[in-house]
Amino acid sequence: MEETFEVNEQARTEAFSGVWDRQLNKVFADVAGYYDRANVIASLGMLGLWLKKFVATIDVRPGDKMLDVCAGTNVMGIALLKKEPTLTVQAMDRSPDMQRVGGERAAKHGFVIQSEIGDVHKLPFPDDHFDVVTLQYASRHLGIRQVSSEILRVLKPGGVFYHCDMLRPANPLVEKAYYGFLWYTLYFTSWLFDSKEDALACRKYFIDSLKMFYSSEELKDLLEDVGFTDVGYQQVFAGMVAFHKAVRPA
Ligand SMILES: C[S@@+](CC[C@H](N)C(=O)[O-])C[C@H]1O[C@@H](n2cnc3c(N)ncnc32)[C@H](O)[C@@H]1O
Repeated sequence: MEETFEVNEQARTEAFSGVWDRQLNKVFADVAGYYDRANVIASLGMLGLWLKKFVATIDVRPGDKMLDVCAGTNVMGIALLKKEPTLTVQAMDRSPDMQRVGGERAAKHGFVIQSEIGDVHKLPFPDDHFDVVTLQYASRHLGIRQVSSEILRVLKPGGVFYHCDMLRPANPLVEKAYYGFLWYTLYFTSWLFDSKEDALACRKYFIDSLKMFYSSEELKDLLEDVGFTDVGYQQVFAGMVAFHKAVRPA
C-alpha cells in the first residue's frame, strides 16, 4: 500500500509541481477578493450547507488549540469560533492575499485568528501541539501524503484531523457528469468575475488535478497508511465531496 501511494504522489507531483510552485499563488492573489462569492455561485449555493454539515462533525472543547491548514479566507476558523469562541485558532496558508481577506473577515466577526504564511508541506509548529487540525478544499494542490504526516506530527496524541474536499467519485458515470459540471461552473465564474490570465490558464488544471486525486476510500487508506487510526468518512453528493475524520493514536 505504502508503495502505491508513493507512486501516486510522485505522479501527481510530476504532473502538477509547475502549477503548484509557480502559478497557484498568482491564481489565489487574483481570486482572493471574490473567492467566497465565486464559491457560492460555483456550488449553486450548496457550499454553505456542506460547511454546516462538516462543522457539525467537528468536536471542539473549550480552550482547544486548533490549526487550519491551507486556511485561505479563514472560512473554517470563523465557523469553528462561532461554534466554540474559546478556541485558539492558528491559520496557515501560502497566499498572503487570501490570508489578508481572511484576517479582515475574522475581524468583522470580532475574532482573532493567528496567521502563518508559508508552504504547508513543512509545518512550522512543535510536535504534539494541536487538539484539532482541519484541511478543507486544498488537498488536490498538495503532496497530501507528506502534509498528512506533518499533521499527524503536530497533533497531540488522541487529537483529531478533519478533512473536507471534492474527491474523485468512484462511480465512472457520476465522475464524468461531475467533470462536466465543474467545467461549466469554472468557465462561468471566471467570466462573471473577470478572472485574470493565471486563473484562466488554471481552469483545466483544477479538473485534471481532481482526475488524478483520490476517491473517499483511497483517501481513507492513505490516512491509515500515514499512521492515523479510527479513520472514517461521510460522503455528500454521491462521493463528489467527503468529510474524513482521522485520529492520532494515543
Ligand atoms: C481552494 S482554497 C481553500 C481555502 C479554504 N481552506 C476554504 O475552505 O475556503 C486553497 C488554499 O490552499 C492554499 N495553498 C495551496 N497550496 C498550498 C501550499 N503548498 N501551502 C500553503 N497553502 C497552500 C491556497 O493559497 C489557497 O488559499
